Amino acid sequence: MEKRKIIMDVDTGSDDAIALVMAMLDEHFDLLGITAVNGNIEVKLTTDNSLRVVECCDKQGEVKVYKGCEYPIASTLISWTAQSFRGVPIREGSKDNATAVHPDQLPLPAPTIKEEEDSAVVFLIETLLAAEDGEITLVPVGPLTNIAVAMRADPRIIPKIKEIMIMGGGHDVNNSSPASEFNVWIDPEAFEIVLQSGCKITLVPLDATHKCFMTVEEAQKVRAIGTKPALLIADLIEQRTTGYAQMDAEMKALNGAPIHDALAVCALVYPEVLKNVVHVNCHTDISRGFAYGETIIDQRIRVNPEPKNCYFAFDADKDIFVKWMIDVLEKDKANRGM
Ligand code: RIB
Ligand code: CA
Repeated sequence: MEKRKIIMDVDTGSDDAIALVMAMLDEHFDLLGITAVNGNIEVKLTTDNSLRVVECCDKQGEVKVYKGCEYPIASTLISWTAQSFRGVPIREGSKDNATAVHPDQLPLPAPTIKEEEDSAVVFLIETLLAAEDGEITLVPVGPLTNIAVAMRADPRIIPKIKEIMIMGGGHDVNNSSPASEFNVWIDPEAFEIVLQSGCKITLVPLDATHKCFMTVEEAQKVRAIGTKPALLIADLIEQRTTGYAQMDAEMKALNGAPIHDALAVCALVYPEVLKNVVHVNCHTDISRGFAYGETIIDQRIRVNPEPKNCYFAFDADKDIFVKWMIDVLEKDKANRGM
């Protein structure tokens, strides 16, 4: 089977960690590297957490981590914006590491490996320039700062990109503000730069990811697999459920939490996991008003419509998503001879 070459761009983060486990264990992928960015927590922590996950999957020496941008491109430059709180995001949930949706440290041992010398942006540019046209898929599941900066620094990378599978955006579902999804909200200008790049883009927005929530009961099925990665995922589903119960009434009632980022990885293996996928014209509100960071889809029926620039998944199939996760973890267990 020819493996799909991917680069994961993450703000690890509890659901990023689950996405990283799946990207490292699913045998459909050749994971070329992990680039960390400021987002859920500061970039030194998202980098450290990504290193922890690499070791949890026993991929040290095989999968490398690169530290990326510490601040968004522009959103923190004007002090009155919410994003400007000390230049790092307002964190989801409580400040308590035990109940935060995104703890500063994942429930894993401190890493014994270190990030690479090269920055994430240098790694992205050098790796993409060395590739054939259309060879590499980018899978950003945090703010798009690293990718937007790389595109601005060297646009020659754009034709090298096969597809960008983005966890980001929202239409009927938002979280960081009534109009905006977190990954866009932290760096709206970066999101718009990528939307205007001309790459093939699929948006996996909250409208889809909130359908692929996982419950504490399902976490027990994952835990029963018994491998280190499975135990981590079970712990993180439970931690996310605790964190979401403090802010999201729907998830509190479901006794679960959306596993946003892993859905973007699943969609590369099982595109049918995304439902009601529509080719649309979408742009980002960067006007710094109440809707700053909104992903706005042009649904007008125009004589000369705006060009369509992305595929937007308005729905998703939870059964396909959960079965994929269990199957990959069970295959890893077999590969470990357990
Ligand atoms: O809005 C959900 C996104 O924001 C996810 O990527 C989560 O990790 C946070 O970064
Ligand atoms: Ca994320």
